[in-house]
Amino acid sequence: MSLRLRLGLAISLAVAGALIGMSALLWLTERRLLHAGALARAETMARALAQVAEEAVVGDNDLLAIHYVRELPKEDPALRLAYVVVDGRVFAHTDSRLIGGPDPGLGGPDPGLGGPEGVLPAGDPRDAWTWRQPVRLPNGAGTAVVAYDATRVARRIAEDLRATAIRISEIAFVMLLAGLAVGWKLAETFSRPIAQLEGAAGAIGSGRLETRIPVTRKDELGRLALRFNAMAGQLQELDRMKRDFVAAVTHELKSPLAAIESYLALMLYEARRAGGAHPFEKDLKSIRAQTARLSRFIGDLLDIAKIERAEFALQRAPVALPAIIEEVVHSFAPMAEEAGIRLLTPAPAAAVPVVSADPDRVRQVLFNLVSNALKFTPRGGTVEIRLEPSAAEVACTVTDSGPGIPAELRERLFRRFVQGPNARAAARGPKGTGLGLAISKEIVEAHGGRIGLADERAGSGASFRFTLPCGNGGGAA
Ligand SMILES: Nc1ncnc2c1ncn2[C@@H]1O[C@H](COP(=O)(O)OP(=O)(O)O)[C@@H](O)[C@H]1O
Ligand SMILES: [Mg+2]
Repeated sequence: MSLRLRLGLAISLAVAGALIGMSALLWLTERRLLHAGALARAETMARALAQVAEEAVVGDNDLLAIHYVRELPKEDPALRLAYVVVDGRVFAHTDSRLIGGPDPGLGGPDPGLGGPEGVLPAGDPRDAWTWRQPVRLPNGAGTAVVAYDATRVARRIAEDLRATAIRISEIAFVMLLAGLAVGWKLAETFSRPIAQLEGAAGAIGSGRLETRIPVTRKDELGRLALRFNAMAGQLQELDRMKRDFVAAVTHELKSPLAAIESYLALMLYEARRAGGAHPFEKDLKSIRAQTARLSRFIGDLLDIAKIERAEFALQRAPVALPAIIEEVVHSFAPMAEEAGIRLLTPAPAAAVPVVSADPDRVRQVLFNLVSNALKFTPRGGTVEIRLEPSAAEVACTVTDSGPGIPAELRERLFRRFVQGPNARAAARGPKGTGLGLAISKEIVEAHGGRIGLADERAGSGASFRFTLPCGNGGGAA
C-alpha cells in the first residue's frame, strides 16, 4: 500500500471517528435538554397557575382562576388536567363539573413528579407526569396541580429528537465529505515530496548529477530536500574535480610518452641499422609494445575527458564507408592472419551512399568493434563486417563467432570501464580498459546515429551494429 493511500485512509478514518463521536455526544445532550425542557415547562405552568390562584383568592375573583385553567390545555396539548384545591375543595379545574367538589386526584395512579432526570413513565396512557405547587394564601392553604400525559410528552420528545438526529447526520455528512477531501489533500501534500525525493535519488543514481528537488516548504520535508540538493551539489562538484584531475593528468602524461615513443623509434632504427642481433632489440620492442598500450589508454582517457567537457567537435566531411572498412580491415589483416581468423567483408546489397561524418571518428568506432571481435574470437573463427544502406541511414554490423555477450553484461556494455567477468583473461593480445564501447557510443550518438547489440542468437557470437544517418551528404559511392 502506498504511503499516500495509507495516510489518506488513516486521516479519513480519524475524521469519520471524530464525527461519529461528536454526533453521538450532540444527540445525547439534545435528549437531556429536551427532557429538562419538558420538566421546566411543567414547573413553569404549575407556578403560573399557583400565582393566578393566589390572585383570584385574594381578589375574590373565582372566575379569573376558572377561566385561566380552562385555557391551559389549548396552550399545551400534552396537558392532561390542571386544577387548584383551596381549603380541601376544588377551586378551579379543567373539568368544570368538578369545581366545588372534594380533591379529585389525578383519576389514575399518581407516579409523582418525573424527577430531575425527567424519567418518563410510559405505557399506561393514564400515566401522568405531575407537578404540585403550593398556593400561598394569607389565611388557609392550597395546591395547584398540573398533570401531563406522559406518553404524549415522551412522543413529543422522540419526534424532536428524530428531527435533531436528521439535522446532525446532514451536517456530519457534509463535514465528512469535507474531512475526506482535506485528508486526501493532506496525504498528497506529505507524499508528493517523498515521491519527488525518490525520483531525484533515482536520477542521481543513474548519473544525472545535476538533478535537484524544488524546495517549496520550510518544514522537515523542505529541509530534507535542501540537504538532498546540497548532497547532489557535493557529488557534482566531486565528479567535476575527478574529471578535471583525470584530464589534467592525462594531458601531462601525453607529451613525455610521445617523447619516449620517438626515442624508442630512433633507438630501434639505430639497432636495425647496426645490423645483426642487437643485444637490446628484443627489450626495446617489448618497451615499445607496452608504451603503445599506455598511449592507447591515455588516448581513450583524453577522448572521454573531451566528451565530458563537451569539447567533442566533429570534423565532418563526406565519408565513403566502404573505403574506411577497407582501411580498417587492411590494418587488422596481419593480426587476423596470425590468430587464424577470417575477416569477411561481403559486398553490400545496394550502393552505399556517402555520409557526412568525421572520418577519423568513424574509423575509431570500427577499429574498436573489430579489435574487440578479434580479441574475443577463438582461432578458426570469423569476423564479418557488413554494410546495409537504406534511404535514411547506413547500418554497419560487426559480427564474430566468439563466445558472445553474457546476458548480465548487455545492459551495461556501453558504460565506461565496463568489462566482461573474464574479459581480461579471455582476450587475446593487449588487455582493454573498458572504454572502447563507451567512446564508440558517444561518437555514434554525436553523429545522430545509434549503436547497440544486433539481434543475437544464443551462443553464436557477438554482433554489434551502428548506424549513421545519410543527412544531406547525398550521392552514391
Ligand atoms: N566481440 C565481443 N565478444 C565478446 N565480448 C565482447 C565483445 N566486444 C566487447 N565485449 C565485452 O565488452 C567489454 C567492453 O568492451 P570495450 O568497451 O571495447 O572494452 P575493452 O575492449 O577495453 O575491454 C569487453 O571487456 C568484453 O567483455
Ligand atoms: Mg575494446
